Amino acid sequence: LAIEGMQWGDEGKGKVTDFCASHADIVVRSQGGNNAGHSIEHHGVRYALRLLPSGILNPDTVNVIADGVVINPKAMLEELRILSEKGISSYQLLISKRATLLMPYHIEIDKAREEALGDKKIGTTKNGIGPCYEDRASRLSLRVGDLLDIESLQERVESILPLKNLELKAYGGKEFSVEEIMAMLLEVREALLPHIIDTTAYLQKALKEGKKILFEGAQGAMLCMTYGTFPFVTSSSPLATAIPNNTGLPLTAVEDVLGIMKAYTTRVGAGPFPTEIDGPLADSIREKGHEFGTVTHRPRRVGWLDLPQLKYVIEISGIKRVALMLLDVLSAVDELKLCTGYFIDGKEIDYMPSTVAELEKVEPQFITMPSWKEDISSIRNYDELPLNCRRYLETIEEKLGVKIAMVSVGPDKEATILREELF
Ligand code: GDP
Ligand code: IMO
Ligand code: MG
Repeated sequence: LAIEGMQWGDEGKGKVTDFCASHADIVVRSQGGNNAGHSIEHHGVRYALRLLPSGILNPDTVNVIADGVVINPKAMLEELRILSEKGISSYQLLISKRATLLMPYHIEIDKAREEALGDKKIGTTKNGIGPCYEDRASRLSLRVGDLLDIESLQERVESILPLKNLELKAYGGKEFSVEEIMAMLLEVREALLPHIIDTTAYLQKALKEGKKILFEGAQGAMLCMTYGTFPFVTSSSPLATAIPNNTGLPLTAVEDVLGIMKAYTTRVGAGPFPTEIDGPLADSIREKGHEFGTVTHRPRRVGWLDLPQLKYVIEISGIKRVALMLLDVLSAVDELKLCTGYFIDGKEIDYMPSTVAELEKVEPQFITMPSWKEDISSIRNYDELPLNCRRYLETIEEKLGVKIAMVSVGPDKEATILREELF
């Protein structure tokens, strides 16, 4: 089963992954890096996972960081340290030899670029994600497997670093010495070595043995570097269709995709957002939903649910079932709006615009629906939801042609209305 964020990230993938993880033999992260922030409330304790798969809290689940992930090794070890402080010290973690190492210079380049872009900046998480994926594409990156042989690792660093320093110099940023980089790598190496394997071979074998694999997406479809709101996107593809290429598994490995959507929309960082709202209404949703970034603590931009956007993602990802999250937050509003169409120059369009220029011209068409004021966070049966709440959900199902298989009414695992088995 693949868990895919259907909007601009932070849809609640962490909660759903944790919810399903107890049924999974293996949880796999296949793309992104520590730009992700997945919050989980587990037995009353709150965890914010970034690089580690959300099955890590479950000692029986094998957690795989697969080939398509970019790994900041220090950040990952820090995450493990925080977990052990919270009493999670027995876990199973496997890291792909083919995964890419995210280095301190990637972070410096990310920051320098954002600054240079000024008010045209992307609003990245400044974790070096873009520069690291770039180095992979231009064949200038170090991979986790390079840590296995110190001599060839040193040779790689010696050949790559002068090129990176040229770039840093151009930005007036901090340059790095081979000694400094090698010292950092040797420091993290010991802790990483026991986890490093060929995860492609491991997953292939697991698949043949009929193991249940849960793929935990990071980011959201609209942040996909190809199908998202380019250039205001991340540098990997969060789509479930990218999983085979990021894990070394065949297309048939992904039997089902569960789309994760909020009951409204949020976005962190810059870029087009057709249904965005501001003022006191946005503030009240932001407050009730605690819509502040897990990673950067930035206030998230807030908007109404955008059906044309979701329809586009459903089509490109082949989604038939969704989990609808944070429905309880909408008790904060008096009246609901639902975007049902996109218009440009007075004419309805039936496609998702692919350029910022066109997206900025979009005039969203809304229908208004009555809200509910009841606190729904303790409801566990669909039929007990207020009538207006069910109408909202049924309208979404009907207009999107998907089944809402799960409704989430609070951050806690228990605060869930399950309408059919997920996994
Ligand atoms: P992810 O990146 O997709 O895993 O989502 P985040 O963890 O970044 O953001 C989702 C936030 O909503 C987290 O703080 C969750 O604890 C919280 N959350 C998840 N589901 C619900 C829900 O149904 N209701 C409320 N109120 N909060 C939720
Ligand atoms: P999860 O997995 C929300 C956004 C950043 C920025 C853009 C590019 O928690 O849903 P990057 O650092 O990736 O180069 O930033 O992508 N972004 C996210 N927004 N949730 C995320 O992850 C995100 N990961 C990246 O805010 O707009
Ligand atoms: Mg998040």
